[in-house]
Amino acid sequence: MSVLIRSLGVHIPERRITNEELGKMVDTTDEWIRSHTGIGARHIATDGMLTSDIAADAAKKALAKAGIGPKDLDFILVATATPDFLGFPSTACIVQDKIGAHGCAAFDITAGCTAFIYGLDIASSMLASRKGAHALVIGAETLSRVTDWTDRSTCVLFGDGAGAAVLSNIEEGGRGILKSILGADGGGALDLYLKQPERTMAFERAPAMTPSVVMNGKNVYNFAVKSITVLIERIMHQAMYRLDDFAWIVPHQANARIVQAAAKRLGIPEERFFMNMEEYANTSAASIPLALAEMDAKGMLKRGDLVMLLGFGAGLTFGATVLRW
Ligand code: ACO
Repeated sequence: MSVLIRSLGVHIPERRITNEELGKMVDTTDEWIRSHTGIGARHIATDGMLTSDIAADAAKKALAKAGIGPKDLDFILVATATPDFLGFPSTACIVQDKIGAHGCAAFDITAGCTAFIYGLDIASSMLASRKGAHALVIGAETLSRVTDWTDRSTCVLFGDGAGAAVLSNIEEGGRGILKSILGADGGGALDLYLKQPERTMAFERAPAMTPSVVMNGKNVYNFAVKSITVLIERIMHQAMYRLDDFAWIVPHQANARIVQAAAKRLGIPEERFFMNMEEYANTSAASIPLALAEMDAKGMLKRGDLVMLLGFGAGLTFGATVLRW
C-alpha cells in the first residue's frame, strides 16, 4: 500500500490585480516587480470570502475528481497562515462543515509557506499507520487580508488561492509519496512574521490593529536559496536519487529569483523547475498544490514520473516531498 495524491482541485479568485494596477496604489513599477520577483499579477479574494470558503471550493472539486464523497474522508488538514479565526476554531473544522464531511478529524497546520509539505507528510503517515483510506490536504490562503497595501516592499509579493489534494491509501504499483524531509530554524522566526496587536493584561482592551506581514527580505532570500540547495542535496544523498531521475522539481512559488539563484548554485537548468508565480504571485501554503494542479491540467505530469516538491517559509521552516505521480 502507498499513499498517493489522487486528485487536485483549486480555487483561484476572479479578481486579478496586475503590477500596473499596483503601481497606481504604491510607488512601484511592472519592471521592478518582474525583474526582482518574476511576478506579473496576483488574484485576490473579495466580497468577504474567507480562507475556508476558497478551501472548501477547492476541496469539493478535488473530491468530485477523485469520485469519492465527503463522508469517505478520514480527516482534513488545512495548511494555512491566514486562518478564518486567530487561534480557534481551526479553518479545517469550518471546511469540514462546509463540504459536509461531518465527523471526521480536522485540524490546521501552521508552518508558513512549507505547511502543505508538512501536511503531506503528516497525512501520509496518519493514513499509513492508522490504515485510513482517504484524506484531504488543503493549502489555502487569503494573504490579501494581512497585506499592508501601502508597503511596496511586501504588497507586491503575495496573492490568494487554494489548492486541495485528495490523498488515498491504495495499492498502485510504486506510485505515491516516497520520502519526506521536514525541518525548521526557529532562530529566524522574526525574519518573517505576522505583526500582532500588543500583548496586554487580560482585562485590558488590546488596541485595534490589523495584523500585517513584516519581512527581512534579504534574510528570507538567503534562507530560501539555501533551503532549496540543501534540500536537493539531502534528497540526492539520503535517497540515492540522481537528478536525472526527476521529471520535475516543484518549488514553493515565492520568487523566481530565489529559484534561479538556487538552480545556478546547483548547476541545474532552470527549466527543470516548474514556476507559475508570474500569474499567481506567492500564495504561501497554496502555491505547491496550485502548481501541481496546473501541471496536471496541462498534461505535464505523466503517470510514473518522479517529482520533487520543495517548501520554505516562515518559521523559518523547510521541507521536501519526493513522490511518484
Ligand atoms: N518597487 C520599487 N522599489 C522597491 C520595491 C517595489 N515594490 N520594494 C523595494 N523597493 C526598493 C527599496 O526601497 C530599495 O530602494 P533604496 O535602494 O532606495 O532603499 C530598493 O528597491 C532595493 O531594495 P531591496 O530590499 O534591497 O531589494 P532586493 O533587491 O533585496 O529585493 C526582495 C527585495 C524582492 C523582497 C528580495 O529581498 C527577496 O526576494 N526576498 C525574498 C522575500 C520573498 O520572496 N518573500 C516571500 C515571502 S517568504 C516565502 O515565501 C518564503
